[in-house]
Amino acid sequence: MEFKIISKSGVKTGNTGAKLAGLLKPGSLVLLDGDLGAGKTVFVQGICRGLGVKEHVTSPTFALINTYNGVFPGSGDPARIVHCDAYRLNSLEDLYDAGFFDFGEDAVLICEWSENVYGSKKPSGCIFVNIVRRDDISANYREIYISAEGGEGELSENAFR
Ligand SMILES: Nc1ncnc2c1ncn2[C@@H]1O[C@H](COP(=O)(O)OP(=O)(O)OP(=O)(O)O)[C@@H](O)[C@H]1O
Ligand SMILES: [Mg+2]
Repeated sequence: MEFKIISKSGVKTGNTGAKLAGLLKPGSLVLLDGDLGAGKTVFVQGICRGLGVKEHVTSPTFALINTYNGVFPGSGDPARIVHCDAYRLNSLEDLYDAGFFDFGEDAVLICEWSENVYGSKKPSGCIFVNIVRRDDISANYREIYISAEGGEGELSENAFR
């Protein structure tokens, strides 16, 4: 199951991320792919806002991993968010070495440039977000494809309206 959301601004992309936050649970894995400057970090900033993160969320391109504390909007339970930018990584082993999986089973894991480490084989149960720049249409035009890979399929397009 995959659906497509059109975004014509960073605000819309961020708000889409914030709406996705409402569907996340302890242990959720969100993988993001897309062209350079597509808006992956903007989307992650939205997820974090949706999870009540107060800190400024930046791309961990050099740090590789940032972690934030937030709250699941549904339950009010504390959420630990782990954000990785895999732009400079080449394998799943690199992702392990970066410490991405070191924060416990309940952490929400978010990885930009996931194709660098997972290739096209996304793990079952992950939420996959692919942001496509449509410079051919206009500078700010993006197609955001969201799918639940082999999971319970409980992602509902209505959640993003
Ligand atoms: N519809 C849109 N959605 C998201 N960002 C947009 C959109 N239109 C314009 N932008 C701009 O594009 C830029 C996206 O930057 P961002 O860092 O989020 O991209 P990225 O995919 O994380 O890049 P990188 O490949 O470097 O990780 C921002 O400056 C944002 O304001
Ligand atoms: Mg980025």
